[in-house]
Amino acid sequence: MPNSYTKPLIAGNWKMNGLNASVSEFRLMLSEANKLFNKVDLLICPPVTLLQSFAQLTKDTDFSVGGQDCHINNSGAHTGDISAEMLADIGAKYCIVGHSERRADHHETNSIVHAKASAVWKSGTVAIICVGETDEEYIKRETLKVVENQLLESVPLGATSFNTVIAYEPVWAIGTGKTPTTDDVKNVHAVIRKHMTERFGEEGTIIRILYGGSVKPSNAQEILGVANVDGALVGGASLKAFDFIAIAKAAS
Ligand code: PGA
Repeated sequence: MPNSYTKPLIAGNWKMNGLNASVSEFRLMLSEANKLFNKVDLLICPPVTLLQSFAQLTKDTDFSVGGQDCHINNSGAHTGDISAEMLADIGAKYCIVGHSERRADHHETNSIVHAKASAVWKSGTVAIICVGETDEEYIKRETLKVVENQLLESVPLGATSFNTVIAYEPVWAIGTGKTPTTDDVKNVHAVIRKHMTERFGEEGTIIRILYGGSVKPSNAQEILGVANVDGALVGGASLKAFDFIAIAKAAS
């Protein structure tokens, strides 16, 4: 249940999925999204190869597109990397940083995530900073400790509701079909809210906190109804127009 100041944000992360042929799925999503914009903000982060064409399609709409990752620098000798400035230049409004797949596959530490979030801010776009415990940490009941430490070390000073979104994604829930209980989601989001409010004052009370990990049409309403859940970061279900729109409807 989002706080009264902001609209919920339903963000789709396409990860390394999507070819030119997927543009038609995105068009379908756009056409279905029309009636939802007064109640919910919508975002898709496609692979960078599709970002420009998606940005063109959304140009005169309230649908946003964003990047899935960026480099810590604006430009330079970094073969294969993309900067936040480049993403902004082709129409990105948001960029995900610190997704657990980046943390695990590319050894991204909290301090790298911190630098990436700053780079996103510098580009004038919004950083979606991801945190969340692993399976092992969950079993050892270390969730709150892990998440608080990730927030402390990954979220730079100066976070506001205009430049930052937090996404809580338990690693063990991503792509597995498993989700925490609503009580667990409520507890973790309450701790994130407290942390953000203590560090960022008034802004911390309205920074959006998304839940991510196996969100689908059948569980969206329950999860989105939890206190301090201001939207969702959706992986698999964001690839299908009707699933993503059904999740957005649950938030509206
Ligand atoms: P999922 O992924 O919805 O497929 O579990 C979520 C994410 O990784 O952001």
